[in-house]
Amino acid sequence: MAKLYINEKNEKGHINAEIYGNFSEHLGRCIYEGLYVGEDSDIPNTNGMRNDVVAALKEMKLPVLRWPGGCFADEYHWMDGIGPKESRKKMVNTHWGGVTEDNSFGTHEFFELCDQIGCKTYINGNVGSGTVQEMSEWIEYMTFDGVSPMSDLRKKNGREKGWKVDYFGVGNENWGCGGNMTPTYYGNLYRRYQTYVRNYKSDEHIYKICCGANVDDAYWTEEVLKTCFENLKFDQEPLLNGFSLHYYVHPEGWKEKGSATEFDEKAWYKTLYKALYIEDLIHLHGNIMDKYDPEKKIGLIVDEWGTWFTCEPGTNPGFLYQQSTMRDALVAGLSLNIFNKHCDRVKMANIAQLINVLQAVILTDGPKMLLTPTYHIFHMYKYHQDAELVESHIEGVKTIGEEEDYMVPNLQESVSVDKDGVITITINNLSVTDSEPVDVTFMECNPSEVTAAIVTNKMDAYNTFEKPDTVKEEAFTDFKVTERGLSFVMPACSVVQFRVKSA
Ligand code: AHR
Repeated sequence: MAKLYINEKNEKGHINAEIYGNFSEHLGRCIYEGLYVGEDSDIPNTNGMRNDVVAALKEMKLPVLRWPGGCFADEYHWMDGIGPKESRKKMVNTHWGGVTEDNSFGTHEFFELCDQIGCKTYINGNVGSGTVQEMSEWIEYMTFDGVSPMSDLRKKNGREKGWKVDYFGVGNENWGCGGNMTPTYYGNLYRRYQTYVRNYKSDEHIYKICCGANVDDAYWTEEVLKTCFENLKFDQEPLLNGFSLHYYVHPEGWKEKGSATEFDEKAWYKTLYKALYIEDLIHLHGNIMDKYDPEKKIGLIVDEWGTWFTCEPGTNPGFLYQQSTMRDALVAGLSLNIFNKHCDRVKMANIAQLINVLQAVILTDGPKMLLTPTYHIFHMYKYHQDAELVESHIEGVKTIGEEEDYMVPNLQESVSVDKDGVITITINNLSVTDSEPVDVTFMECNPSEVTAAIVTNKMDAYNTFEKPDTVKEEAFTDFKVTERGLSFVMPACSVVQFRVKSA
């Protein structure tokens, strides 16, 4: 029997809604087919955006979307993606399958999409192959309302008022696909490029994100931050608001990766073990950030995370299309609980990627659409968005697994309280085989109204276009309300969410 103690009176920090963000790159069928089908498509759409997809993302409460990449961002020249579609310049998408990109989805379309979803915007700029002028003019084009060359051009292209750029990334993976730079070189470029990311409106501040490390590259973090903090004037604000981190889970390593759907219990535990490693990475990079930013003003932005398996047999390897099973549901559940618990430093996270690419929340096939197990986790966890993290602790956690090097806890949780005082508990059972009784005790809360939801199935269960509801969110009713708590049995291989109102 495990005991979950919750001190709902001890608020530990604000969970930014943006932790539940997503990422959409010009890669495979993410943008084209997934999100955007064009105005003339037979697939029901509004201004080219798929109605079914937009409705599902609104229901999931997608808070922020990153675009246009990824590696694609450092080859993207935004001016190719504006103006009449028939005259937009075409390019080769060298990173992703060598396909022709016709630029029919560009800046205007991105803002239209975010407007339809009702989410914040995160644009990633080009440092690798773009100029300072190009980046600076993009900001002017997007945000300046007055009379200026770029503002006039935007108006000529049909948009009178500037849009709101909430987040702006100054380059992507500049240690790799974004220019193969050394940290000091990038740090200096960051200082220069970010200078021209202007705030044209006094009440709209663009949150500037500096390119952070890949996985455990502490040297990159140390050197970039050292460069960015060098020679700042006495009372000068830091030049960055956020510092990114990328971490993908490949159960069999970067080369082999491993199948998304065909795996054994060993691979299950190995994957979850590797997913839990994100917490070590938050500590590693967070400790270095603490040296430069002890007040934690700068956010750690985990703007690429999730599973990366061998792509589905028979699909273009450059398109990174993979299925999503219960294993992905657990990876999402664990990672989001970790981000919640580190909300003092983690201010945004963007799972990769939104549709038809890597750990997607939605898959499409022509007019058909399905919600993956990962979608259902984001849907169940949405109540944590903009809530306050509270103290929680599980006593009696077992260490489980198949191999000594890849042992994991059987249970993992996070708990928050929202502005109306409703408590949300999200808890994962990582065991493939064993259910676990759990007793919850609150500090003061005397539960009056309790609802719960669950996602559970066999470890390798997934949804297909023929059977889209194999893995889905269902009501969970098998629990008892006690005087100051709850009592229930957590099924094996499950993610459970409780919403608790106090008397
Ligand atoms: O998400 C796929 C790719 O992974 C992104 O383009 C890149 O930033 C990362 O290496």
